[in-house]
Amino acid sequence: MALPDLTYIAAPMVKQSDAPFRLLTQRHGATLAYTQMLDPHKLLEDRDYLEFHQRDLALGRGETDESVVVQLCGNDPEIIVQAGKKLQGLCNGIDLNLGCPQEHARDGHYGGYLLAKKDWPLVQTIVSAMSHLLQPPTSVKLRLCPSSSPPSSTVEFAALLEQAGASWVTLHARHVSSRRRRQGAADLDVVRTLKTALRVPVVCNGNVRTWEDVQRNKDETKADGIMVGETLLGNPCIFTNVIPDPVRISLEYLEICKELPEIATHQTIEAHVRHFIEFQCSRRPWYHKFRTALSACEGVHDIEHLLRTKVTRWRGKAACKDYDACIDDLEYTMD
Ligand SMILES: Cc1cc2nc3c(=O)[nH]c(=O)nc-3n(C[C@H](O)[C@H](O)[C@H](O)COP(=O)(O)O)c2cc1C
Repeated sequence: MALPDLTYIAAPMVKQSDAPFRLLTQRHGATLAYTQMLDPHKLLEDRDYLEFHQRDLALGRGETDESVVVQLCGNDPEIIVQAGKKLQGLCNGIDLNLGCPQEHARDGHYGGYLLAKKDWPLVQTIVSAMSHLLQPPTSVKLRLCPSSSPPSSTVEFAALLEQAGASWVTLHARHVSSRRRRQGAADLDVVRTLKTALRVPVVCNGNVRTWEDVQRNKDETKADGIMVGETLLGNPCIFTNVIPDPVRISLEYLEICKELPEIATHQTIEAHVRHFIEFQCSRRPWYHKFRTALSACEGVHDIEHLLRTKVTRWRGKAACKDYDACIDDLEYTMD
């Protein structure tokens, strides 16, 4: 299977990489979107969990068959391959998470806790099994190897994963820390070194707040693609160098949720809308009223009503009667 277009990637984000959000980012410039990290044991043992994610993938391809990568975690090659087989017909790649810093990853010995040299043979076995036994290409998303190891370790490890069959490597160039998940700058020098060391494409992740950062990271690292996480939650249009009107982009997301019902949970939908509004309006005097009103909403229609009436009024604009009128009225400007 051909590699997906890695130029601009929406990062995997737990509870945030729902199909409606992935489609939104892809309508606005992302060439590829990842699912959140999925648990292979649950895919094999929990039918509801499997069916939920199969539905998310089946409906989330959009009208133009948007590209999606499924991300799996874990440390058991057989379980990962079996779980991958359940989803392989619905995606363009399967990625192994080698960066999750959370305590459950430490306790379960997966994600970013597989980066120490003693675990390299195990990870090579997993990647080799995935690349031989699964149809879509296999990729890995890793953080920097532990700071106690030599600085060249990350590049050495990635080269071993390339040999084991990884079709591309994404590097989030920060160390694993369960206390400080994303603070501090990502070390783009390591991404640049990785790019010169590998034959397969390299994707750079970290340090993107603006479109200029996307360009700068690409120029500095020569990476084949740029992956963005947190900033995309506030601005899903970053890859088109646009800062959307926060109400307009929220309404567009809610429209997709209505077209794909029961894919994103209410909690996820609420979180996305909060992020879109917060990104530009968190210092507005009405922002706290908005948070309270949002948390009282019970569904997409409630949230839509809140945005079209109160939020629009608080912003000093005429209330929106219908979606099209609303998006015509509002401009792509900062609040
Ligand atoms: C809410 C949230 C959830 C995340 N979940 C995942 C995940 O499931 N898998 C993963 O590999 N990384 C996950 N990440 C990390 C991002 O994919 C990305 O590597 C990290 O945020 C750095 O990129 P950024 O600086 O553009 O946000 C998550 C990040 C955030 C903010």
